[in-house]
Amino acid sequence: MTTPLTPRDDYRGSGLVFPEGFTFGSATASYQIEGAAAEDGRTPSIWDTFSKTPGRVWNGDTGDVACDHYHRVDEDLDLMRDLGLHAYRFSIAWPRIVPTASGEVNQAGIDFYSRLVDGLLEREIRPVATLYHWDLPQHLEDAGGWTSRATTDAFERYAEIMGAALGDRVHTWTTLNEPWCSAYLGYGQGGHAPGRHEPASALAAVHHLNLAHGRAIQALRATSSGDPDYSVTLNFHVLRGQGDGAAEAVRRIDALANRAFTGPMLRGEYPADLLADTASVTDWGFVQQDDLATIEQPIDVLGVNYYSTATVRLWDGISEKQQNDGHKGAEGGTAWPGSDGVVEFVEQPRPYTAMGWNIAPEGLEELLVSLSEQFPEQALMVTENGAAFDDEVAEDGSIPDPERTDYLRRHFTAAHRALERGVDLRGYFVWSLLDNFEWGYGYAKRFGIVRVDFDTLERTVKDSGHWYRALVRTRTVDA
Ligand code: GCO
Repeated sequence: MTTPLTPRDDYRGSGLVFPEGFTFGSATASYQIEGAAAEDGRTPSIWDTFSKTPGRVWNGDTGDVACDHYHRVDEDLDLMRDLGLHAYRFSIAWPRIVPTASGEVNQAGIDFYSRLVDGLLEREIRPVATLYHWDLPQHLEDAGGWTSRATTDAFERYAEIMGAALGDRVHTWTTLNEPWCSAYLGYGQGGHAPGRHEPASALAAVHHLNLAHGRAIQALRATSSGDPDYSVTLNFHVLRGQGDGAAEAVRRIDALANRAFTGPMLRGEYPADLLADTASVTDWGFVQQDDLATIEQPIDVLGVNYYSTATVRLWDGISEKQQNDGHKGAEGGTAWPGSDGVVEFVEQPRPYTAMGWNIAPEGLEELLVSLSEQFPEQALMVTENGAAFDDEVAEDGSIPDPERTDYLRRHFTAAHRALERGVDLRGYFVWSLLDNFEWGYGYAKRFGIVRVDFDTLERTVKDSGHWYRALVRTRTVDA
């Protein structure tokens, strides 16, 4: 795991130049921005169902309209061009493509993404397409969701459909976004759709997501007629340990959060300590012969999402257990099957973003260096980094968001330091292009470098967006 860095300074670099060819992009996800939830043949995903269940999402917000990107795609493409983005990371809504249990393909869904990809290419922006950013078709959840192996069959078929439809033009295919969230928050902790509290199901979901990744890479390769790159995006937990059992606490959470995915995907095995730590929860009988060989597919680039760090310690079993795992809130169930009564998460030092996440740019440098030490042959890409703050519109209509700009500047400095230390880091996608539906937080948290007025749906580039445009143009951090 990572060796914590003592910040040598505040990471407010200036004059740092990124290499020619470094990709500057921005990212979004289908359910968070598209809206048009019931149009052109789309059926509900687990997030439609979840957000419409009272008490699940702040303020009862849903993705029904979101940023209305589905209808404003041309305007949004122009925005990306004006910001100078080299690449755009978006996700495809599976329930637009295969809306019903019959398996029939919905051409209108394919047409939407085909138009998006063409619009990007016309503007010389590279399309980076994610197949799964959490919007599982509800008909598949009804049949067991990620706890069922049949969902991996459906995912393989969906990958074949998309490979054949867009594989001539997509620059990078990403199979999954943050399977940690899908499995543990969706099936264990319950704060994400489908909102289940079943520790054993969370681990079955981990395996089926891993298997879905491997099968999808094979399917995309077989059907893409261009020469795309292949990838997956993981949200790594950068951990610090506290107290007597610090190393043990870190080891356990590292196994569940990080190595449960990098193990099978990049080494072809589940870590022995993960299997031992979770033995009281499941016997992992859902892992079948040859699964690991299927999961371990070569990828061109590993996507890294990073926002903050987490501190863990062994729980004494007596004092009230701290639940704040520094990510996405808690919902009664556990995101840590097998380690729930063993490890606790300790409150992080301030300052925080509006999510309550601590700001720690050194964690990004540390993570990138650690990954390149663990997987020396693997190129890396920061596929998400960014911050929510409570923006205010100034009298002249501008959106001064100095905290977001500062956050970005410090994390770009961290990425630059990783490059200087020899990390093969190919690019960086800011989360997010637009303010959007922030899952359980609804529209209460704004991550965009472009503001969306959710009454008028008007877009306004924030000061951080102007700052980013200058960074992309000059390749130089100089705020
Ligand atoms: C994730 C997702 C994004 C989130 C972002 C901020 O990392 O959880 O990929 O959809 O909106 O991370 O929470």
